Amino acid sequence: MQIPDIIIAIDGYSSTGKSSFAKLIAKESGFLYLDSGALYRGVTLFAMENGLIDSGNNIREDKLAAALKTLDIHFENIGGKTMTFMGDRCIENEIRTLGVSGKVSPIATLPVVREYVDKRIRDLGKGKRIVVDGRDIGSTVFPDAELKIFMTADRNVRAMRRMKEMQGKGENVTFDEVLRNVTDRDYIDSNRAASPLSKADDAIVLDNSDMTIEEQMVWLKELLARKFGTPGNDGSAEA
Ligand code: DC
Repeated sequence: MQIPDIIIAIDGYSSTGKSSFAKLIAKESGFLYLDSGALYRGVTLFAMENGLIDSGNNIREDKLAAALKTLDIHFENIGGKTMTFMGDRCIENEIRTLGVSGKVSPIATLPVVREYVDKRIRDLGKGKRIVVDGRDIGSTVFPDAELKIFMTADRNVRAMRRMKEMQGKGENVTFDEVLRNVTDRDYIDSNRAASPLSKADDAIVLDNSDMTIEEQMVWLKELLARKFGTPGNDGSAEA
């Protein structure tokens, strides 16, 4: 798939399949995929392992702020897959557990954490040709991104997808637990003071409640053709 040298920002609610979509776009276009949620999850895992967040979600913000100065969370390409690392330790599986999912939203409300993640994403994305997913990529991190997509889907559909994904990885979770987590995260992500989840004015909405990933790729290709011209055209924008 040919795409001009642009930044693609994909935002939206949790468990809408943003990362699956972004990864497939990256694979088909050669773009670099950046998962901002993985960085928030990595910071959360670090906070949990170091006693910086308790069961009531009270956060030792001063200690976390100090630790972020040296905390090394980054991505490595292992066999064609983007994996999240903390130092030399692969944390890709641990950051996807319900334990981390249940703590990540409060951590992501902290301005110091948001600054850390924004800086890492902007540094990693310097060369354009990136597809980035998150909650505030089109509104805050890359407000000039040439293509902004905002993903949404029915909450029950999202919880069902997430439950299947987690069960597929051997995690013992019920539909109700996952639905509660999705609902809680929607609320915290949308209502926090710092950079809440919101659709950028120029983002295009994709509701994929009833769409397969293949149908989403068809939708994207049509959108790219409309906006940037198909390969062989002069690349001028129509929309
Ligand atoms: O996309 P995800 O579910 O892996 O994201 C995990 C959490 O990180 C999510 O609950 C909200 C937060 N997040 C955020 O606040 N801003 C982003 N750009 C990405 C994720």
